[in-house]
Amino acid sequence: MMRAFRGEILSVAHDPALVPDAVRHDADGLLVVEDGLIVARGAWRDLADRFAGVPVEPLAGLIVPGFVDAHVHYPQMDSMAAHGEQLLDWLDRHIFPAEMAFADPLHARAVAGAFCDELLRHGTTSALVFATVHAHSVDALFEAALARTMRVTCGKVLMDLGPKGLSDTPDIARAETEALIAAWRGRGRLGYAVTPRFALSCSDAQLAVAGELLARHHDVLLHTHLAENTRECVEVAARFTDLRDYVDVYDRFGLVGRRSVFAHGIHLAPRESARLAQSGAGIAVCPSSNLFLGSGFFDFTRAADHGVRLGLGSDIGAGTSFSMLHTAGLAYQAALAGGYRLDPMRALWLATAGGAALLHVDDKVGALGEGQEADFVVLDPAATPLLARRTRGASLADRLFALQVLGDDRAVSRTYVMGRCLWDRDRSRFGDFAQ
Ligand code: GUN
Ligand code: ZN
Repeated sequence: MMRAFRGEILSVAHDPALVPDAVRHDADGLLVVEDGLIVARGAWRDLADRFAGVPVEPLAGLIVPGFVDAHVHYPQMDSMAAHGEQLLDWLDRHIFPAEMAFADPLHARAVAGAFCDELLRHGTTSALVFATVHAHSVDALFEAALARTMRVTCGKVLMDLGPKGLSDTPDIARAETEALIAAWRGRGRLGYAVTPRFALSCSDAQLAVAGELLARHHDVLLHTHLAENTRECVEVAARFTDLRDYVDVYDRFGLVGRRSVFAHGIHLAPRESARLAQSGAGIAVCPSSNLFLGSGFFDFTRAADHGVRLGLGSDIGAGTSFSMLHTAGLAYQAALAGGYRLDPMRALWLATAGGAALLHVDDKVGALGEGQEADFVVLDPAATPLLARRTRGASLADRLFALQVLGDDRAVSRTYVMGRCLWDRDRSRFGDFAQ
């Protein structure tokens, strides 16, 4: 059945720093949806006659594409706000013990459901997600995402140099990853990512397995961490003394290419940025995590100069918010610390179509274009008294910027997935889906 939604619609399909007409704005727009797909989108006055018989739901607020979280760890949602440490100590003291609890499939299932709900509450409809080393932790997330018809890419974490109780072996990594790809390929809107945790938690043999899997399966992504923390970088350099730099480590094992998504990429030499750009690999920029763990600031100027592909990640549980609005606001602040002025339209692109491109799903989501899946969010520019004061009478760019700096889940009044309302803030209700 066809349905239409009328309201103010905004999307940014391409990097507005590179493509002049990337921003598409319909002040009084119509989004026509059939079987979960967008069949038409434009000004209401242009489309009203053509779709005269179609029921129209008016939506107050600003309709934007569902957000894409390009790097997040679902098993870490209950470890957010763990006090006191930078990356390597934080992993040892807080994260690895929490991930060990995922040996219990019931625990994994409970957290996976809560995690997907939290994404929806924050307007995130697509995500690239770390699970744990346990294969069933991937099953749990895929089941939860499938039930909610969300677009989720995930993979079993490969880590044979992890702590006792949280490590696999190259043979187990290969076998379990193969089995997961075979079990989940082509189901719903799910995707698979080969997920070595990072260089330090994988032996050479394990990194080689990751490269093998990536080469064998052309429809999977590679998802890992890169150059996040200075101590991490020192340890990587000390281990791989014959290699030029951190990117070279991943390159040696065939892990750098257009299907690769690297989280962070803060401490990179110019050669590394150039190599990432040339290979088509992308970086998931995670500003709230970088601030929380004292990791540093991502260099937006360098990335732009080299043409590195970018998306935005919450990096829960080092990240401090599920909100991609809030993450965009922090990206602005992190960028400015390095002298780069992140435009609010570019920030919206990073949180939607930019991330979708990184995940290789930009033909399907991220821009509210005709033929795309109808994942969208209704933002409330008057969600709080302060936001209402700040946005009243403001320009579109100012309203968007205020939402990014002052907004969070409170500003997400509805989240639609495949044209169905799966989160309604005002009724405090999730939509119907098989649990
Ligand atoms: N590097 C390796 N593992 C992790 C992780 O779980 N979180 C973050 N932020 N960085 C990592
Ligand atoms: Zn991470």
